[in-house]
Amino acid sequence: MTESSYVLDNDWVYERERFDAIERNLDPGTIWALTEIGVSNGWNCLEVGAGGGSVTEWLCKPVGSDGQVTAIDLNNRFVDLLDYENLEVHELNVVTDDLLVEEYDLVHSRFILAHLPERDSVLVKMIQALRPGRWMLV
Ligand SMILES: C[S@@+](CC[C@H](N)C(=O)[O-])C[C@H]1O[C@@H](n2cnc3c(N)ncnc32)[C@H](O)[C@@H]1O
Repeated sequence: MTESSYVLDNDWVYERERFDAIERNLDPGTIWALTEIGVSNGWNCLEVGAGGGSVTEWLCKPVGSDGQVTAIDLNNRFVDLLDYENLEVHELNVVTDDLLVEEYDLVHSRFILAHLPERDSVLVKMIQALRPGRWMLV
């Protein structure tokens, strides 16, 4: 992993509380959208900047044992605590590292692109990570 311009470190002592607040406020809308999209058994999902892990954890359930969730973040201290057989966690810098191409049925990111000056190129990478015709939720 290389240096990043992201200024909020997941190792901050109050980071769990900060994520709790984000998740409490945003998860209902995110989960509504994911449900509308129809995330379901067998889907291969990528969560970019998984943070506190609530969306990652939610995704692990509908995709089931035939599906897969990959969570990436600069710092996985919270998603590392999740214990799902269909979850893979990678320490990865989405700005400088490559994503797999045409791999996923869903790419989700929340509250990360706004922090990244390189958001345009990251967005292109996220689009390229999708299987043709599949879903991105930002
Ligand atoms: C504001 S938090 C949002 C967390 C989560 N997506 C949510 O909405 O609950 C942004 C997350 O993106 C991660 N992040 C920031 N820059 C990143 C990068 N270049 N590559 C991967 N993850 C990054 C941070 O470590 C942090 O966990």
